[in-house]
Amino acid sequence: MSAPAPNARRTFAIISHPDAGKTTLTEKLLLFGGAIHLAGEVRARGNNRRARSDWMKIEQQRGISVTSSVMTFERGGITFNLLDTPGHEDFSEDTYRTLTAVDSAVMVIDAARGIEAQTRKLFEVCRLRDVPIITFVNKVDREGRDPFALLDEIADQLALDVVPLTWPVGMGGQFRGLYDLRAHTLTLPEGDSRTSGRVVPLTGIDDPALAEFVPADELATFCEQAELALGGYAELDPDLYRKGALTPVLFGSALKDFGVGDLIAALAAYAPPPRVQHATPRDVTPDEPAVTGFVFKVQANMNPQHRDRIAFFRVCSGRFRRGMKLKQVATGKMIAINSPIFFFAADREIADEAFPGDIIGIPNHGVLRVGDTLTEGEALTFTGIPNFAPEILRRVRLGDPTKSKQLRTALTDMAEEGVTQLFRPMIGSQWIVGVVGQLQLEVLISRLDAEYKVDAGIEPSPFDTARWIAADEPAALKSFVDQHKSAMAEDRDGAPVFMARDQWELNYTAQRETAVRFTATRERA
Ligand code: G4P
Repeated sequence: MSAPAPNARRTFAIISHPDAGKTTLTEKLLLFGGAIHLAGEVRARGNNRRARSDWMKIEQQRGISVTSSVMTFERGGITFNLLDTPGHEDFSEDTYRTLTAVDSAVMVIDAARGIEAQTRKLFEVCRLRDVPIITFVNKVDREGRDPFALLDEIADQLALDVVPLTWPVGMGGQFRGLYDLRAHTLTLPEGDSRTSGRVVPLTGIDDPALAEFVPADELATFCEQAELALGGYAELDPDLYRKGALTPVLFGSALKDFGVGDLIAALAAYAPPPRVQHATPRDVTPDEPAVTGFVFKVQANMNPQHRDRIAFFRVCSGRFRRGMKLKQVATGKMIAINSPIFFFAADREIADEAFPGDIIGIPNHGVLRVGDTLTEGEALTFTGIPNFAPEILRRVRLGDPTKSKQLRTALTDMAEEGVTQLFRPMIGSQWIVGVVGQLQLEVLISRLDAEYKVDAGIEPSPFDTARWIAADEPAALKSFVDQHKSAMAEDRDGAPVFMARDQWELNYTAQRETAVRFTATRERA
């Protein structure tokens, strides 16, 4: 079999603030996509709740999704790989890494709320990586803000050009349907629940037939708006979109099925197929014959009965086949990949082959780590898969001192997964755990108990924030480290980390020590 056309994959994520409707939209996309393969995670949540480990309980109690998963659907000859990202404000590190493995993103905005804190944060990550974004303004079946105000907000706050592709005819109680500004069709609400129904073809916004569906006074408003929408925005320039400078905007209602098909069509038409991936010493294009890829996430104990560990691997080039031997570039080890999996149903499926843009799970015993590059032999390292400086630093207090070995194993495991970061102070023996959000600590304690049978608690550490440090002159670095020994630690890769009592101390130190660079992210060398 020959490799499929490179444009046959769309690997994307949905970014949003909690409650904007990401889960609802995900479900609808999968339904629209027809061939539904739900990721192990999603299904397992329903089928296998009791067997799940304790940390999943946190997720259930709080009604949030802590783990990411992969969902695949097909439509019109294109395979869509949707990488789910946790929506909670607190737990974003994992989300950031997931965004390193996508080629584009869909930004969901609540029509009544506009851009929210988490939307903006995730958008910034996308911008850093030039990930192009299609915007879906959700919940137009409810009372929302004026569409122009929403478009202005996106344009102003995110410094993006906006191009509306559809337009809501009224919102909330006066929602009469969704108008396609290019195809000139009106999708009408139908039945008591007013879900999307008949699609009426029209000749344009001045088609007299519109009066059948929209009361006269509302029609005047709509025509005025649609005229402005058609004339007042730039043309959709696919290049600008792919460079991340422009966002096509679709209005819709995930709950009522409005705009979901349009979104899939827009992804198919505009979203980039697998992109060139940045690496050192050279970038990698998807049509290269040799297999390359990177690990963007590791998850231990997905199934507590098996104590397995799955590395989520994004294929960047070549045609991957089961049984291949790939080189872990960081260590030079060759690893035979005999049981790669696709995350389809609750009983994962063996992946016999995979193409650029696909995500496969590689079961392993802790060898593979986040940021790892695998190749057929070439010494390449994919870049842009960072660790983030923790905003919370804590010590772990052990209930039973005889369990210190288990604690160490567990902390190391979870640092490898990226659940928490682990810092070993230069002075003293108590390790310090670093997280970006409070929820990560709860996940840590809960998993220590459930998976490692270690009773532990969290206690304050003398430090509040941390930065990786580097300097052009080794002597400058050494001198800084010597002067600040009591505030120095190493991360799990042995890289030096400066810990500060508070932001003020950090800024003060950084201002004085001009020969040293303080960085909030670090990539594996
Ligand atoms: P999230 O994953 O982004 O956090 O959002 P989620 O899909 O869970 O949606 C959050 C709430 O918004 C849910 O209501 C959901 O039903 C509602 N919602 C999503 N899309 C739409 C839409 O297009 N129109 C309207 N009117 N509501 C929408 P909830 O009351 O919190 O949950 P539930 O009781 O409905 O499950």
